[in-house]
Parts: sequence; C-alpha cells; structure tokens
Amino acid sequence: MKLLVIGGGNMGLTYAKSIAKNSSDATISILEKSPEKIQELKKDTSFDIYNTIENCPKDIEIVLLAVKPQVIQHVFKEIASFINNKQLVISIMAGITLNTITQGLNCLKVVRAMPNLPSQVGAGVTGYFASEKVTNTDLIIVTQILEATGSVIKVKTEDQIDAITALSGSGPAYVFYFMNAMMEQAKDFGFSEAEAKSVVLNTFLGTSKLFESSDVNATTWMERVTSKGGTTHAALTSFNNNKLNSIIKEGTLAAYNRAKELSKD
Ligand SMILES: NC(=O)c1ccc[n+]([C@@H]2O[C@H](COP(=O)([O-])OP(=O)(O)OC[C@H]3O[C@@H](n4cnc5c(N)ncnc54)[C@H](OP(=O)(O)O)[C@@H]3O)[C@@H](O)[C@H]2O)c1
Repeated sequence: MKLLVIGGGNMGLTYAKSIAKNSSDATISILEKSPEKIQELKKDTSFDIYNTIENCPKDIEIVLLAVKPQVIQHVFKEIASFINNKQLVISIMAGITLNTITQGLNCLKVVRAMPNLPSQVGAGVTGYFASEKVTNTDLIIVTQILEATGSVIKVKTEDQIDAITALSGSGPAYVFYFMNAMMEQAKDFGFSEAEAKSVVLNTFLGTSKLFESSDVNATTWMERVTSKGGTTHAALTSFNNNKLNSIIKEGTLAAYNRAKELSKD
C-alpha cells in the first residue's frame, strides 16, 4: 500500500507510526509544511518526508487528510491536481463532510473517519463512513489502516459520525471529568496526588477489563456490586437523586448537537 499522509502533526504521525508497525507492505510518505516538524519527522527513517505536493511520489494509492479543519480549503487548492478518481481519500478531520471533500478534491472514493485521543496509544475508537464509490476491497484496506490505532466501527449514516464524535470523540474528556472528581474526593480523604491517581486510574482500568472479559451488561454489574443498604447503594442513590444519568445523557446530546452544527457545509 502506498500512502501519503497530509499533515505530520499529532494524528498524522500517530497514523504513520501505527500503520508502519502493523503493515509490512506499506510505503508511507508525509507532506508537512512546518520546518521544525519536518526536522523532527526526518529522525524516523520509516517515512519519506516532503514539503510540497509536487515532490511527492506520483503513484500514491491512499491519501490520509490529517490537517486541522481550518486549513482544509487551502490544502484542497494545493493538492487537488494531485488527486485522481482511483485514489482512496481518508479524512480524519473533525466536522468536514464527505460532500465538502468530494467537491474540494473532485474525487469519488472518500472515507470520513472520526478517531479519538487514545488512538495515540493504540487504544482508540474510530467510527467511519464511506462514500458510495468506495468498494468492498477498499474497505478492507480502510479497516486495516484505521485498526492500526485501535477499534473501528463502520457507521450506517454520515449523521452517525456526529454521534460517534459525541460518544468516543469527546468521551475521553467525560471519563477524565469523572476521574478528576473522584481524585478530588480522594485528596479530600487525605491521599496524595499520586495515590489518588493510582486508586482512581486502576479502578477504571480494572472495571474496563472486567466489563471486556464478560458478556454481563453494565446494569447487572452495578447490581452485583451493590447490596441494599451498603456503601455502593448509598453512592448510586445519591447519583440517582441528583439525576446524574440524565446529566450525562444531556451532555452527550449537547456534544452531538454541536458536532452537527460544526459539520454544516
Ligand atoms: N487530536 C485528536 O485527538 C483528534 C481526534 C479526532 C480528529 N482529529 C483531527 O485530526 C486532524 C489533525 O489534528 P492534530 O491534532 O494532529 O493537528 P496538528 O498536530 O496541528 O497537525 C496538523 C499538521 O498539519 C500541518 N499542516 C498545516 N497545513 C498544511 C499543509 N498545507 N500541508 C501539509 N501539512 C500542513 C500542520 O503544520 P503547522 O503546525 O505548521 O500548522 C501540523 O503539523 C484535525 O483535523 C482534527 O480534527 C484529531
């Protein structure tokens, strides 16, 4: 597979490194503008680094768009003449629709993907939606590329990309929010920052592993850990009295509505 990553920042480099690690047949080129980043990128000899599209190889099969959404119109102008209808274009840019990309690059085969922050450590969640012209064979390659950074879900409609944005895209911040509140309480109990982090982080890690290792749903696990009149019961009763469940759903819905606004062409 001959891949060109446009934008060698946090995500572009994450993908380049993960794909290099997972696909022995991949030839990876990166187009990057920042001179400092180019110097940094050149330290890794797994990639070919370019600063103009004209110098990039002409036989690229897959283009991964990993620049900030704000600069995309500029990038379209710069690379449009390089793109052809046989190439597969994968975008990980937040809020940039399939329509914007197919029109901006005058191309047919486009995949819009939404990764999240843990992609940087190979534990990401990526939802993606493909344009009609993307074939089943293309989808095998798309999955191979996206799975290099974690788990992948193919969504049924482009609208669901906004839902994925609200769930797994913004989700790590919700988890940090919950962890932070528990750490604040741990410090109020007299634990140090390091102790609070260890207790809270390992509670999240252990619970996630337990959940992953069984077919038991979250409600049943909650019931199993709760005895009437006990400590967990006291906490969950307080959460329910404060309508925490609705608060979390409303927050997620607010993220979804904002994602929809940002995705307007
Ligand atoms: N970070 C996340 O967790 C996350 C999650 C989901 C989606 N995304 C999406 O991923 C994309 C990249 O985010 P990021 O955090 O990796 O941003 P980033 O670190 O700023 O990387 C973007 C890179 O593209 C370079 N660039 C700008 N214009 C260019 C051009 N014309 N040609 C080639 N390279 C160019 C930038 O250089 P300069 O620094 O010189 O501008 C920068 O190095 C965004 O669209 C974002 O929405 C990110």
